[in-house]
Amino acid sequence: MTQPDYAALAEAAIAARERSYAPYSHFHVGAAVLTAAGNIFLGGNIENAAYPMTICAERVAIFSAYAAGEREIVALAVVTPTDDAASPCGACRQVILELAPRSIIILLNLSGARRRVTPQDLLPFGFGPAQLGR
Ligand code: THU
Repeated sequence: MTQPDYAALAEAAIAARERSYAPYSHFHVGAAVLTAAGNIFLGGNIENAAYPMTICAERVAIFSAYAAGEREIVALAVVTPTDDAASPCGACRQVILELAPRSIIILLNLSGARRRVTPQDLLPFGFGPAQLGR
């Protein structure tokens, strides 16, 4: 596969913020997943009055890709409305390690900050399929 178009994926993540449902935090996060098949799946965070039921944008996008039958995630872009590019929560790090272990993750904000990391950067020494002999 040729080099993924990270800039386009970042733009898709920014567009995905429109799909965020965040009436409690007003913190709108967008995520976009690129699969090996070349498809892009979007996600925004979806909150709930019962706060812990909230799901992050990253997981919405990743689960959308898996729900569509995709299994190889090449890249994931996440945009937060923060001063610097924020990094995913612990739950999302665990999900990324499981479902997008070979991906490149682009973290960005709305004013040009951008950082590229790997799942292993985000969750070093993590518990994954290997511990279960998979
Ligand atoms: N959130 C995400 O969607 N992704 C992150 O990486 C960090 C946090 C959401 C969860 C909640 O809806 C809001 O941001 C505030 O924590």
